Amino acid sequence: MISSLGYLRIESADVAAWREFGVRVLGMTEGRGPRGEGGPGGDLPPEERATYLRMDDFPARLVIVPGAQERLLASGWEVRDGAALAAVARALSEAGVPFKVGSGDELAARRVSELLVLDDPAGNTLELFCGAALEHRPAVSSYGNRFVTGSMGMGHVVLPVPPGSTAAFDFYTEVLGFRLRDSMRMPAELFGLPAGSPPIWFRFLGCNPRHHSLALAPMPSPQGIIHLMVEVATLDDVGRTLDRCTKRGAPVSASLGRHANDQMVSFYVRTPGGFDIEYGTDGLMVDDATWICRESTAVSLWGHSFADPAH
Ligand SMILES: [Fe+2]
Repeated sequence: MISSLGYLRIESADVAAWREFGVRVLGMTEGRGPRGEGGPGGDLPPEERATYLRMDDFPARLVIVPGAQERLLASGWEVRDGAALAAVARALSEAGVPFKVGSGDELAARRVSELLVLDDPAGNTLELFCGAALEHRPAVSSYGNRFVTGSMGMGHVVLPVPPGSTAAFDFYTEVLGFRLRDSMRMPAELFGLPAGSPPIWFRFLGCNPRHHSLALAPMPSPQGIIHLMVEVATLDDVGRTLDRCTKRGAPVSASLGRHANDQMVSFYVRTPGGFDIEYGTDGLMVDDATWICRESTAVSLWGHSFADPAH
């Protein structure tokens, strides 16, 4: 039912730092606000003072809304059309999951034609939408990098869930139709649970050929997000971005490496919001007709040394 990860809405007390980071480090393009103004402005409502970061013809893939906290407000998930969104609404109702229909102001702020807002069983806010109004001014990166988006969406997001509960996994797979692509297990003792408890599972879920668009990580996150992955077309795009992190003092939280499950060659950088962005290339695409779910027993084939070993 879900087509792809469409956007993230992030609250930040330092929108200017995010703008600089998004444009000068990540190589994204600054977009305009819903009224075409954008940028700072004291009396404007938060939507108009937000920073819009583009990767492609979406008006924004990252929306940084000014506020008091550093946190993920919502992950936006695109569905094909109004009929598909109506089917999602029916599935939510049948499963007893409460949701709100987006107001006119919410639709205008997001530049979408229909919107449902709900919390998953772990308390992560989701916005399910269709009918995004595209921006036809090309999103040309100053650094020449090209983001891999299209039908695979903006990348993947890793959301926190309580260790030992399968409620979120059941919701995403049984109600929203995500498909399990891969799992990783960790000993329960690492999560403060008594010795001998069943293992704790990380789940990697897909909704399009990207190996995973969503991962559920059984760990706490004050920001409500473990990391966002964005993909670029070439290894040179990744390497030049790594150089810009060094040049501009953006903290690299994991060295270059290749993940075992989605085979992404990537590094991780700490955002002004205190969580990581994984910046990668060469991610695995899968075909559900032939894909078989297995267990990965290593995070990476090589590299990915995390600065914080508790990561
Ligand atoms: Fe990732």
